[in-house]
Amino acid sequence: MLEMLPRLFQPKELVCKRGSLIRLQFLKGQRAALIIGKESLAQSGNLKKIETFLSRAKLETRLIDGISGDPTGTIIEDTVAKLTDFQPDWIIAAGGGAVMDCAKLARSLYENPHLSIKDISKPFATPAAGTKAGLVLIPTTSGSGSECSHVAVVKDDDSGQKIPIVSDAFIPDLAILDATLTIHLSPEVTAYTAMDALTHAIESYCSKSNNSMTDAYALMAGRMIKAHLSVAIKEPRNIVARENLQYAARLTGVAQNLTSVGAIHAIAHAIGSKTGLPHGYANAIFLPPVLSFNAQSSPRPLEFAKHAGFRDLEELLAWVKEIMISANLSQNWLAPATKTGSQDVSNEEIAELAMKDVCMRTNPAKIEMQDMINIIAETR
Ligand SMILES: [Fe+2]
Repeated sequence: MLEMLPRLFQPKELVCKRGSLIRLQFLKGQRAALIIGKESLAQSGNLKKIETFLSRAKLETRLIDGISGDPTGTIIEDTVAKLTDFQPDWIIAAGGGAVMDCAKLARSLYENPHLSIKDISKPFATPAAGTKAGLVLIPTTSGSGSECSHVAVVKDDDSGQKIPIVSDAFIPDLAILDATLTIHLSPEVTAYTAMDALTHAIESYCSKSNNSMTDAYALMAGRMIKAHLSVAIKEPRNIVARENLQYAARLTGVAQNLTSVGAIHAIAHAIGSKTGLPHGYANAIFLPPVLSFNAQSSPRPLEFAKHAGFRDLEELLAWVKEIMISANLSQNWLAPATKTGSQDVSNEEIAELAMKDVCMRTNPAKIEMQDMINIIAETR
């Protein structure tokens, strides 16, 4: 019953200001494990900044790097082993949603060594965390909202299926929103991570579980993304645009935590599992056809478009396509998916997986299997 209630969890502390990464130098403790992705944090100079602040805090730091794509059970177990060896009192993750999700899951298992990923895969099955290590989440993209959410996605080692795990133990002790960390993002990553945030906003507003409070978060975020995304793509160092995208992602993280999302996410999870296509990229591709389908039986997509500052739904969908063209993103999934993974996947396989996704429960329109196949075929 408890898991059915829309409960809002917040980080104990959220710092949001350009330059707020300096908060790290005031951490109190002995040892910090720093979990990051592949090369981009070092290449942008941000890794050096983080290490400098941690050294000023006199924290012995151990780097756990190379987290890429959705964390699998194996990657999480490997991370837990490194944490257990080092015994940190802070676990700090700096990166996109996958890096932060890895840290959330690894912290839970580091603190509860008798449990496995399977044990914590039921909603709210993870015991409270924070007795051994505090969790600090620092997003370096503006999309997932994972820094403030109680969800972490794990990829099943065998099936490749993405499984969302829900726990209030995933809420960090500290979240740092420093938009200067995002000015090095490419136009492609800027566009598709923001499209993930926009999809959270739209699907939350259209969710069967929405209410007027979640609508407020979703609509404000929609306006902010419309006003600032094309600026951030054209002028990557425009800090005002970057801040607005980062705060919008945080707002949509709250909205979607309370309402869940819908069919766009269901397809994005399925196609990501089968092909490795980045989550936000998949959302961007499926946003127009799913929204058009939903609008046939629900007034909510049109309402969202108008509140976000578009004349009508068609103008919103045209804007999404313009953004994708300006960032060199394809509007069909097969070509980019071929670069990241399988070429042999069929429309039916993806549709079948998407139909089973938990996000389908809150989609505003009933989607039958054949409708799903049509949507996937239309954008192939
Ligand atoms: Fe998402």
